[in-house]
Amino acid sequence: MKILGITGSVSKSSKTLLSVQEALDAAKQSDSSTETEILHLGDYETVLCDGRDPASYTGDTREVIDKIEEADAYIIGTPVYRGSLTGALKNVFDLIPNDCLRGKAIGFVATGGTYHHYLVIDHHLHPLAHYFRAHVIPGGVYVHNGHFEQHQLVDEEIRTRLHDLGEATVRLSTHLNKDFSTAPPAIPRKSLQEQY
Ligand SMILES: Cc1cc2nc3c(=O)[nH]c(=O)nc-3n(C[C@H](O)[C@H](O)[C@H](O)COP(=O)(O)O)c2cc1C
Repeated sequence: MKILGITGSVSKSSKTLLSVQEALDAAKQSDSSTETEILHLGDYETVLCDGRDPASYTGDTREVIDKIEEADAYIIGTPVYRGSLTGALKNVFDLIPNDCLRGKAIGFVATGGTYHHYLVIDHHLHPLAHYFRAHVIPGGVYVHNGHFEQHQLVDEEIRTRLHDLGEATVRLSTHLNKDFSTAPPAIPRKSLQEQY
């Protein structure tokens, strides 16, 4: 099984990256046969979705789509921007094929400046997972600036929650079958001739 950590931050020193990595490491420790990889959007020059068939993207965008399609389960984290997920992560959800998360497990992480927007996981990330017919680990983890000191995640309760999230993602994914879910609604894509 391969679990892909996706971080919706493009910042080089990202708290989201540290948080997702913590959950991913716990996933690996709970089952040594689990393969893990992190996809930090700051390391890729991903173009904006323009409505074309996902198969026709090239370069970094192609690589990002391929990594997401190939994974069996995900820990997806986003910084809170204006009370929602980042535009960079939303763009990735727009780029990927309709059925590429179908029936797979997702654990969600959000990092904000304060606890002010802790419902972002329930209000903005769960509906996306629902659209893609993915299974969400109950209890996403919300992390804020007060949980860090000198660029290290030091809050033990939050670290435990992230460990639980990583382990639960492995356990749920082990028991899932893609056929447990229905297909997401189809969306029309533009041909290359229709691009602006
Ligand atoms: C453009 C922008 C908008 C933000 N909006 C919010 C917000 O609405 N609520 C909040 O709690 N934090 C907000 N923040 C703070 C970030 O969510 C927080 O610093 C986060 O940990 C950054 O994650 P990163 O280090 O992975 O990039 C915002 C930061 C930026 C740059």
